[in-house]
Amino acid sequence: MQSNEYILELDSIVKTFPGVRALDGVHLEVKGGEVHALCGENGAGKSTLMKIISGAQPYTSGKMKVDGQEVKFHSTKDAERKGIAMIYQEFNLVSDLTVAENMYLGRLPKSKLGTVDWKKLNQDAQNTLDKLGLKINCKTKIRNLSVAEAQMTEIAKCLTIGARIIIMDEPTAALTDEEIKMLFTIIDELKKNGISILYISHRMDEIFTISDRITVFRDGKHVATKNTKDTNYDDVVAMMVGKNITDLYPKRNYQSAEVVFELKNISGKGVHDVNLQLHKGEILGIAGLMGSGNIELSKIVFGAIPQKAGEVYVEGKKVNSSTPIKALNAGIGFVSDDRKQEGLVLIRSVKENVSLSSLKNLSKGPFLDKKKELESVAKNVQRLNIKISGINQNVGNLSGGNQQKVVFAKVLETNPSICIFDEPTRGVDVGAKAEIYQIMDNLTKEGKSIILISSDLPELIGMSDRILVMREGEIVKEIMKEEANQEIVLAYASGGVSE
Ligand SMILES: Nc1ncnc2c1ncn2[C@@H]1O[C@H](COP(=O)(O)OP(=O)(O)OP(=O)(O)O)[C@@H](O)[C@H]1O
Ligand SMILES: [Mg+2]
Repeated sequence: MQSNEYILELDSIVKTFPGVRALDGVHLEVKGGEVHALCGENGAGKSTLMKIISGAQPYTSGKMKVDGQEVKFHSTKDAERKGIAMIYQEFNLVSDLTVAENMYLGRLPKSKLGTVDWKKLNQDAQNTLDKLGLKINCKTKIRNLSVAEAQMTEIAKCLTIGARIIIMDEPTAALTDEEIKMLFTIIDELKKNGISILYISHRMDEIFTISDRITVFRDGKHVATKNTKDTNYDDVVAMMVGKNITDLYPKRNYQSAEVVFELKNISGKGVHDVNLQLHKGEILGIAGLMGSGNIELSKIVFGAIPQKAGEVYVEGKKVNSSTPIKALNAGIGFVSDDRKQEGLVLIRSVKENVSLSSLKNLSKGPFLDKKKELESVAKNVQRLNIKISGINQNVGNLSGGNQQKVVFAKVLETNPSICIFDEPTRGVDVGAKAEIYQIMDNLTKEGKSIILISSDLPELIGMSDRILVMREGEIVKEIMKEEANQEIVLAYASGGVSE
């Protein structure tokens, strides 16, 4: 149910931070019942604009109208009163409370006696969940939900506050393929009810699957708004990055039989008795659904979670990788899928973060070689096109994708011979993705070897010379590049076929 009336209009919005003009006079119009996608490189200003629309951040100048009336939001509550709600990646849910309590937090229905009307609360909550087709019991505590279910709860909560515009900023970043399908079904349902969705994602296939219109931002400026059916992938990418990207994945030409890294009988949380060999210059993909153990395996090998049994060999020598520092010293580098927990120190600068794990390489005796540190950091900032106002900027202030690039730069800085990359391009724009793929290809040409874990199947298949599929903590299948396609990988990952 789409209308041609604009329910939200933004005009000449400017937002400045010290040293950064995040938004430079942008406009945006949202129709009722449309899915409006926002595209743009990392740091283009998408999240900043969404925070402004949802009342989470003030803007420097410009005009905002809801239903033709000018509005000024001082808080997210103000925006909610006008029917605008945002779903955050770090959910705003209280883990010790139930789904129903969270949905009506601060607005719990009261009985005549002034006490909480639990019956009404649970009935209303369950009705809303059911209406969305969600199989969630409203009495479940948030802590017992999966990431996807928590996200669905957030959406249900938006409905209970009467939202007409729901903002989703990279909602699928932590979802599996099945869960993404579920999210899209719900988005369709919301649309039918006249609710508009503002949708940010770096996954182009998603944008073309669900959006009605697409707006592209670049360096804080509005580039274009188009009907999705009147544009295409190449067009949007060209508007985003200012050039065509024809070959996203480098042509790999790899041949080697020299084993440089070996795991023997590795066990730990979610991983049972895994054996594998990685060859010199190889990119080895490890596929698996959420909970299959592939992410856990990489964390065990890097000493981020305990290894219960097994041995790790680097170039034929048994190494101790029971802590991240020991793993680094053994020549193993790791890009974590969770940049906030293991990857970055948000309150420290870009410079400190990039050089933190490689102080040894950058030191002259006991002193840090300041010049070398600066040169090295600057090189990686440029290479990955990291958008920062200066290398002393706090990492916590960077856009999501730029934080991810810092994680990647930090690992490159340690110059590891074995690289383990978990979701290396999560939230990264398509231009920088191409750059990261090129860097990975170059690393292998320098004789380094890579283990790649990614839920982005086109990426896993496009980059890997060989793929191991994991299920229930074990390796169930080896697939060579020539035979790999999404159907085969998924079939083994989900247990649809077995050897
Ligand atoms: N609190 C802040 N202090 C300083 N600069 C900030 C702050 N928040 C955002 N910025 C800057 O504003 C610019 C836009 O950031 P924003 O998060 O909106 O980008 P984005 O388009 O969402 O990118 P991504 O795709 O990486 O998420 C970036 O240069 C970022 O560093
Ligand atoms: Mg963002």
